[in-house]
Amino acid sequence: MRKNNEVQEVVVITPRQEEIQGSGGHIRNSKDGIWWPVTKTLPRSTAVLLFPVVLIIAALAYTRTLDTHRSLTVTVELYRHRMTDPKTGKNSLDPLQFTRGTSHRPILSFSGRTHYCMLFFGFPRNWRVTQENNPSDKRPTSKRTSSPPIEIPLNCSAYNLTGTCPTNQSPIPENDQSRPSSATCPEYFRWIHEDLRPWARTGITQEMVERAKQTANFKLVILKGKAYLETYEKAYQTRDVFSIWGILQLLRRYPGKIPDLELMFDCVDWPVLLVDRYNGPNTEQPPPLFRYCGNDATLDIVFPDWSFWGWAEVNIKPWEILLGELKEGTKRIPWLNREPYAYWKGNPVVAETRLDLMKCNVSENQDWNARLYAQDWGRESQEGYKKSDLASQCTHRYKVYIEGSAWSVSEKYILACDSPTLLVKPHYYDFFTRGLIPGHHYWPIKEDDKCRSIKFAVDWGNSHKQRAHQIGKAASDFIQEEVKMDYVYDYMFHLLNSYAKLFRYKPSLSANATEICAESMVCGAEGPVKKFMMESLVKVPANTDPCSMPAPYDPPTLHAQLKRKESSIQQVDSWEKSYWENQTITS
Ligand SMILES: *[C@@H]1O[C@H](CO)[C@@H](O)[C@H](O)[C@H]1NC(C)=O
Ligand SMILES: *[C@@H]1O[C@H](CO)[C@@H](O)[C@H](O)[C@H]1NC(C)=O
Ligand SMILES: *[C@@H]1O[C@H](CO)[C@@H](O)[C@H](O)[C@H]1NC(C)=O
Ligand SMILES: *[C@@H]1O[C@H](CO)[C@@H](O)[C@H](O)[C@H]1NC(C)=O
Ligand SMILES: *[C@@H]1O[C@H](CO)[C@@H](O)[C@H](O)[C@H]1NC(C)=O
Repeated sequence: MRKNNEVQEVVVITPRQEEIQGSGGHIRNSKDGIWWPVTKTLPRSTAVLLFPVVLIIAALAYTRTLDTHRSLTVTVELYRHRMTDPKTGKNSLDPLQFTRGTSHRPILSFSGRTHYCMLFFGFPRNWRVTQENNPSDKRPTSKRTSSPPIEIPLNCSAYNLTGTCPTNQSPIPENDQSRPSSATCPEYFRWIHEDLRPWARTGITQEMVERAKQTANFKLVILKGKAYLETYEKAYQTRDVFSIWGILQLLRRYPGKIPDLELMFDCVDWPVLLVDRYNGPNTEQPPPLFRYCGNDATLDIVFPDWSFWGWAEVNIKPWEILLGELKEGTKRIPWLNREPYAYWKGNPVVAETRLDLMKCNVSENQDWNARLYAQDWGRESQEGYKKSDLASQCTHRYKVYIEGSAWSVSEKYILACDSPTLLVKPHYYDFFTRGLIPGHHYWPIKEDDKCRSIKFAVDWGNSHKQRAHQIGKAASDFIQEEVKMDYVYDYMFHLLNSYAKLFRYKPSLSANATEICAESMVCGAEGPVKKFMMESLVKVPANTDPCSMPAPYDPPTLHAQLKRKESSIQQVDSWEKSYWENQTITS
């Protein structure tokens, strides 16, 4: 089998419509920006590679001199893909990486202004041209010279005196219009359109919302930027508390920008609104119900879970802090120096499938390359959570993710480790996991043949180290860049704004709703709850607008994307199959 294979390049050309600005177009990041990464990272195929790049630059320069009107900005991004079929040893364009995942890192990127005619150039076959004509997608303009942001006060003495939320809690920043809108949101935001599609035609009526009350833990009403709460049933642990806290922080982050709405929230693990029940011609409309996860058979609307603001009961810190610690944690042991096995630590008794996974643990008689540990939360809590520190768990080259009773909040921590995630076939999704591409961000593991699947994955990774490490890196980059707190808030922002647009009635306050604000939640809180709230408190409004929402998928594109994910999984399946066939033959 050939190990040292060629490098495949894919050039993605992304033209963006830009306002006509007359002459003075320029090629950004030219000179050193273009050349050094190429010469540094591609010693062998340099000539092959540089030739087309030179062509493009020449074309850019040439077309620019012809006409300064009707220009486009063309971004040229060069991606490096590597792949070897373990069976044939042949190289091909990696099917696992065929989608241009949003977190693919170009090894080369520059942009310049040119014409549409550029698009009709004959590009070599392993280049791809992507055209994203989004008129609203403007590049961030130069930084506004802004006065220092005004802190939103949080005064518990004042709250204790009056017992009422401050009246001016949402100062709307002045010169609001001039704020640059930032980049386009990550790809997974497109699922917001899909999640709200059941109401796209009918809109949302009060009757529908009221029907969602059946299983809801609480109803949250937002009127003129203030929040009101009606609790139906206390949730498990502090799930509801931190979910509500999160929405209050959104209001502080984007004051005056969250429209009037009301929403029913169910904090229980499993989605409940079965597609089948609302599918027929004479069935009623589904009630809109928010929760932490969904699956293909249900219509529940997914919303970021409480752990982004902290999970007090198990000492999991707010995401913003933890994400920084994870970044540091991955640096402690370089990937190659990590234990060459698959690691998992968690509570096995919450699900049959986790108990099944435990059979793959190493023992005297067998080694499936898995090192699995049961988490004892009782003992951890007594010992000050020293052994459950997530940032210190990046010790193995591979990490297993397996669902619990439904989705698991652990997924983001596992993916952030820089070690490839061996992901046991999931049945649920949360708001960001639909952005993950098998083979690119994780390695798929069969559900009904876990041990053999893990054994193969680890063997494959240890004999394709660079490729395996790339998967680990792609996932940590995805988590660090696309699931950072800024985007968690932006996701909530866009979801709630799109949701509110569907309203066919004006929400109003019911008798049992009480006003809530950061003060009403935090001033009387104690211990880790108070600590995590203070640590995740939004102190100043955002100084930029939320990212701009990507367009909905058209059905063929969505279908193609799902198919591509499916075929990546099948590809791994077939490699696994021949691996085991080979083992039988040679043993
Ligand atoms: C089959 O196994 C042998 C011995 O372990 C190994 O040398 C060979 O590369 C394997 N072939 C494939 C296709 O995995
Ligand atoms: C406000 O009241 C709570 C008890 O309700 C108390 O724990 C807290 O210390 C008080 N805060 C201030 C600043 O007085
Ligand atoms: C908090 O409120 C109290 C009582 O209204 C007031 O005396 C105090 O100055 C306020 N503190 C701040 C920092 O605004
Ligand atoms: C898995 O095996 C290791 C090593 O023998 C052991 O320390 C660990 O407790 C086992 N895990 C479980 C869940 O039994
Ligand atoms: C308010 O709560 C009470 C008891 O908790 C209940 O009986 C009543 O129906 C509620 N009112 C509304 C309008 O929901």
